[in-house]
Amino acid sequence: MSRRVYIFDTTLRDGEQSPGCSMNIQEKLEVAKQLERLKVDVIEAGFAIASPGDFQAIKTIAETIKDCTVASLSRANAKDIDRSAEALKQAAHPLIHTFIATSDIHMQHKLKMTPEEVLERTRTMVAYARNYCPNVEFSAEDATRSNPEFLYRVFETAIKAGATVINVPDTVGYTTPDEYFELIRKIRENVPNIDQVILSVHCHNDLGMAVANTLAALRAGVSQLECTINGIGERAGNAALEEIVMAIMTRKQNFDVELRVDTAQLYRSSKLLSNITGVVVQPNKAIVGANAFAHEAGIHQHGVLADRSTYEIMTPESIGLNKNTMVLGKHSGRHAFEEHLKTLGYHLDQEELDAAFAKFKMLADKKKIVQDADLEVLVSQKAVEIPEVYKLDRFVINTGNTITATASVRLRRGNGEEELIEKVSIGDGPVYAAFKAIEKIVGVSFVLEDYKVRSVTEGQDALGEAYVKIRRNGTIFTGKGVSTDIFEASVLSYINAINKMIYEEKLEAEGG
Ligand code: KIV
Ligand code: ZN
Repeated sequence: MSRRVYIFDTTLRDGEQSPGCSMNIQEKLEVAKQLERLKVDVIEAGFAIASPGDFQAIKTIAETIKDCTVASLSRANAKDIDRSAEALKQAAHPLIHTFIATSDIHMQHKLKMTPEEVLERTRTMVAYARNYCPNVEFSAEDATRSNPEFLYRVFETAIKAGATVINVPDTVGYTTPDEYFELIRKIRENVPNIDQVILSVHCHNDLGMAVANTLAALRAGVSQLECTINGIGERAGNAALEEIVMAIMTRKQNFDVELRVDTAQLYRSSKLLSNITGVVVQPNKAIVGANAFAHEAGIHQHGVLADRSTYEIMTPESIGLNKNTMVLGKHSGRHAFEEHLKTLGYHLDQEELDAAFAKFKMLADKKKIVQDADLEVLVSQKAVEIPEVYKLDRFVINTGNTITATASVRLRRGNGEEELIEKVSIGDGPVYAAFKAIEKIVGVSFVLEDYKVRSVTEGQDALGEAYVKIRRNGTIFTGKGVSTDIFEASVLSYINAINKMIYEEKLEAEGG
């Protein structure tokens, strides 16, 4: 029988640490629910001690997700572990993940600890974590640059102290497939109690080899692979989950392992994450990039028409990319709309369906044909619903190449008793003028960090999607807006970011 291999997803921890990928609690919960549908085995939900927001996100995910193990990261110290244990209290399957660096470079320059002290800390902290939780993962940070003999001792000690998972991270993305294969083989040979635990790998992509290294370790016998959706993560990112999974599925004979993952959820997971973070997937990205299943060259198109296997090694359907060409328009009914969403993998409750259908009708009035990409954007908007303290009522922008852009924006403020507030501003360009007018209405200071617009589909009536990032007191808030008018999309994205900022600051003030 094939060996069972576990997928440990760290999108919400290592992935979220990467610049531009921060998410609020609702967004993290939405991603966690999607990871549960994707059927990963472990969701690393965050680093509990890092901030009250991280703690709350782990706690909420632990309370909600029942079909996956939920993990929280902790350095090897009691305070971190206490915080992780607290956040994971309600988890159906909790896992405390604790780590300490084992390379000479890290021990000398960062930890300022001797190897013997690191060994002792490993022993006491793994045992401490085990008092809270039956499942404890121990990671030797910078394992691939550590002295192997020392690494064996550390792992043996961690297992004796109660670790149930041993992780061998390539923290700085330094190793190569052959070297990593050899390291894993030697760990299996030299750590006497290694068979008692799950052996795991965690690769970073600094040299572009994270997936190759992960697969080499798999061939060397590990049974847990750590990765992130779209490969997001520190610096050049982590090993991409969708690439690892599809490599294993497509080249079954090479690996002969069994995964639990539902590959038909891969595309949707990738889309959801990039919709939430605003970090767009590069078009030529393996598996989930826009061009991954596109055949441009005539000779390729000819081959694919004759037989898809000429140039396709996996089907778009296997990752949940729907090639269904059914077209929805303003005459499409609710039933067809709902059924079509189901084929795209969206199962909405009644309230969500009502809201999505209303948005669809509005869009269908403006666009003749509503494509799948449009629907995905409409539906994913519900992913980040938060109280709307400010709502757009109307705006007017006056611009040209010989005049200074002027914008007048009117917003509704408050729930129930709403108040209309209108301000006018000039700016370097129409969007900036509108943003300035909104800032005057809101009256709190923050910095615009990033702004971008992209077209969701092609054609004159394409939906435009705008993303903004604003920063206040060191925290980033992202906002998204969608409309067939890019100015409206931009204004909506700004208001969305401001509403998130207000909501999260309120949560923080109430004690996280
Ligand atoms: O890259 C790394 O070493 C990590 C550990 C904390 C597992 O992310
Ligand atoms: Zn990492």
